[in-house]
Amino acid sequence: MSNPRVAVVAGDGVGQEVIPAGMRVLSAVTSLDFVELPWGSEYYERTGTMMPADALDILGDVDAIYLGAVGWPTVPDHVSLWGLLLPIRKAFEQYVNLRPVRLLPGVRGPLAGRGPDDVDMLFIRENTEGEYSGTGGRVHTGTPLEVAVEVSVFTRAAVERVARFAFERARERSGSLISVTKSNASRFTYVLWDEVVAETAADFPDVTVQRVHVDAMAARMVLRPDSVDVVVASNLFADILTDLGAALQGGLGLAASANLNPERRHPSMFEPVHGSAPDIAGMRRANPLGAILAGALMLAHLGQTEAASRVEAAVAHVAKAGETLTGDLGGTASTLEVTDAVIAALPPA
Ligand code: NAI
Ligand code: MG
Repeated sequence: MSNPRVAVVAGDGVGQEVIPAGMRVLSAVTSLDFVELPWGSEYYERTGTMMPADALDILGDVDAIYLGAVGWPTVPDHVSLWGLLLPIRKAFEQYVNLRPVRLLPGVRGPLAGRGPDDVDMLFIRENTEGEYSGTGGRVHTGTPLEVAVEVSVFTRAAVERVARFAFERARERSGSLISVTKSNASRFTYVLWDEVVAETAADFPDVTVQRVHVDAMAARMVLRPDSVDVVVASNLFADILTDLGAALQGGLGLAASANLNPERRHPSMFEPVHGSAPDIAGMRRANPLGAILAGALMLAHLGQTEAASRVEAAVAHVAKAGETLTGDLGGTASTLEVTDAVIAALPPA
């Protein structure tokens, strides 16, 4: 059997440090054929585009995409995001953004009196439309009459497919699902969302679903994290709530995410949640654990569940030992030292 082909877009800033770290760990547990692609903000400065015109053809041919971060102070953030990440998510129908939020034993979370048993959530973010649909425009640009309009787009089909995925995950876990909206203030889009979730619920009689408004959800994650298991939410709401989630699990450096095309018609994409971290880029201080855990999500998606579990176990071991951690987790180790520690901690196959 030939090795899975994985496109690697390390991208900008600390992406260039944490993705090579992840590749080393993955190579220690399995064989992958990496196709490294030099796209991102530096590429933009040279060529005027974030990635080449045939980028989606190149990516369409691989089994998975491993991405670091895109965005750099020299390029406006909406240019870098819309020039690389969002086209990939949309073209490949990666309509699920999966973000586990787990406080690992040994990591000090910010909530007093709360430990690993209290913080174990799975966020499912709608990843193709909603508030980030890209529909809108500006009129009277540069004049006092200037107007900007950005339209939230919610389709029945897209809400249903992401809800269905969330119900399936809830069924595999605690059997409880939280659907986050703001259907009191927004009378159209989130009301449609609520209706579609309620209709989909009929196919999952074994799952209980709660509707929670996004503002109340933010408070609940802090006050009663143990009452949160699987959560489904719109593109914007889950984007914000998962940064809160990353904080609850000990910081952005630990958070991993998967952009999934569940039908596997197209490649899925795996990335740490954090960005390019210009403030620490190039200092060899970036925490590689989020990127490594994203690599484990990728292995699981490629069917290599045992290799994925070994990587997760090694990360958990390093976190618990607490001896080799980067500055964001209170340690003094470098990216390289943490990566070496993870490789050394891999359980035998
Ligand atoms: P960021 O995630 O890059 O950084 C936020 C804070 O977290 C910084 O203090 C940074 O030092 C720290 N941090 C991030 N990753 C870390 C790691 N691995 N280890 C230790 N500390 C880490 O978010 P920010 O500053 O808002 O954005 C910087 C750039 O990244 C922007 O251009 C933004 O557009 C882009 N970005 C890209 C994302 C992506 O590619 N998916 C996601 C978020 C931001
Ligand atoms: Mg975000």
